[in-house]
Amino acid sequence: MSTKIFVPIDSTALALGADKVAKAIADEAAQRGADVQIVRNGSRGMAWLEPLVEVETEHGRIAYGPVRAKDVTELFDHDFLQGKHHRLCHGLTEHIPFFAGQERLTFARVGLTDPLCLDDYAARGGWEGLNRAAALSAADIVKQVTDSGLRGRGGAAFPTGIKWNTVLGAQAAQKYIVCNADEGDSGTFSDRMLMEGDPYVLIEGMAIAGLAVGATQGYIYLRSEYPHAFKTLKAAIGKARAAGFLGRDADHSGRNFELEVRLGAGAYICGEETALLESLEGKRGVVRAKPPLPALKGLFGQPTVVNNVMTLASVPIIMAKGAAFYRDYGMGRSHGTLPFQLAGNLRHTGLVEKAFGLTLRELLYDYGGGSASGRPIRAVQVGGPLGAYVPESQFDTPLDYESFAAMGAMVGHGGIVAFDDMVDMAAQARYAMEFCAAESCGKCTPCRIGSTRGTEVIDRIIAGEERPRNVALLKSLCDTMTAGSLCAHGGMTPFPVLSALRHFPGDFGIADTDSQAA
Ligand SMILES: Cc1cc2nc3c(=O)[nH]c(=O)nc-3n(C[C@H](O)[C@H](O)[C@H](O)COP(=O)(O)O)c2cc1C
Ligand code: SF4
Repeated sequence: MSTKIFVPIDSTALALGADKVAKAIADEAAQRGADVQIVRNGSRGMAWLEPLVEVETEHGRIAYGPVRAKDVTELFDHDFLQGKHHRLCHGLTEHIPFFAGQERLTFARVGLTDPLCLDDYAARGGWEGLNRAAALSAADIVKQVTDSGLRGRGGAAFPTGIKWNTVLGAQAAQKYIVCNADEGDSGTFSDRMLMEGDPYVLIEGMAIAGLAVGATQGYIYLRSEYPHAFKTLKAAIGKARAAGFLGRDADHSGRNFELEVRLGAGAYICGEETALLESLEGKRGVVRAKPPLPALKGLFGQPTVVNNVMTLASVPIIMAKGAAFYRDYGMGRSHGTLPFQLAGNLRHTGLVEKAFGLTLRELLYDYGGGSASGRPIRAVQVGGPLGAYVPESQFDTPLDYESFAAMGAMVGHGGIVAFDDMVDMAAQARYAMEFCAAESCGKCTPCRIGSTRGTEVIDRIIAGEERPRNVALLKSLCDTMTAGSLCAHGGMTPFPVLSALRHFPGDFGIADTDSQAA
């Protein structure tokens, strides 16, 4: 019987030489007459161990990593096909502490299967949610999603069921499901990992959304920087259509649902839902004023569900296991799990799916293993480039939407970027303003002009010019941006800027009391 060897096909592993490793294993096995079957799986999410090679044994899958092509001969010499010990061996993958403590619902299959194998998908619970949805009325599907407590994972955490209900209630000949796969936030990669590692769960979620609101066409708006995800999604959509899960009479529901992938051209603002819709319509990505909401007047002026990849990929398990199952995870009004993405200066970077409610400290130290540099972690930016910098004194705050909002921060898409005590927080604040200026769509003045003036004011503070006056000016400018910007790009840039100033005044050359006044 052949031995199954798993070598990830995820971008992270590919960037670290996974293709060469797979070839080296195939060549070595052929030379030794060993009977092996190489499966290209998604990533298990332990980025520091990539390429993580797993060997299937009678006890389970044994992990070896990070494996380079030059290690392969030695691995064979050490009988890794039998799961024997080697310096790169980590034992059973499921027992690696980073992995063992996770609660994988959305990522349940990622890393276990060949992403494009329909049999693997079905064998591990795939299509159960769609099958259940196909037997329900549209209103009952929306009710399940509402009762699950699912909130949008793209950043704003808006209740998904309420959005779907608005689209369901809208009268129109054509409605759309748009998946926001722009994933522009710094330090985030969960959307990519899922699309590369388990594309059918996204397809299934979108098909369920189509049944729920009466939409017959879906689009995945994907950032062009994700070529592997693009290839995988295209192939998966083709296979799902051929197998009857998409198209006319999708999954024998008697209803039609078609799906296409569209590539963006690389602008942060095209992740904002209305700019995304403009871009999808072939125009420049400029934010639209709301109202009208996209739910009522979205793509081509028609009622449209716009949801993040994680939101849509969470729906199949909700439909398969019921709203109560999902709702029981989490805390407060943050139900379910969130795939947190650990990045920056950490020993163990990667993806940790956990129920809401664990603390940042647990993520940074129990999972992340502390800083990679070995120095104290000083600040963490949570929720992408518009997220606040969280100081060490707040690391014990539970990660749920309300607790983070209460301290002027946000969970957002779950990106966690850690910095050690060598970070210059004034430079980080300046970077936030500069980023805002570079990525502004230009439609409104507080953001277009304010971000450029803001960069200049921070420069003056750093240079020591009239610090008290310039700090007050920066605060006033941030007030204007918060209150007067048309969208959260300009409206939330003050979060990283002011949190840096508030928590790390010394980096701006000002005393603590001056920063409080600010
Ligand atoms: C500047 C900006 C960038 C955004 N980028 C993304 C993104 O890359 N991906 C995403 O899903 N949502 C992004 N959003 C949020 C979307 O506007 C929208 O709230 C989301 O797609 C709705 O889906 P959800 O309810 O499932 O979260 C961004 C918002 C802003 C203001
Ligand atoms: S805040 Fe910035 S990105 Fe948003 S609409 Fe205004 S100019 Fe455009």
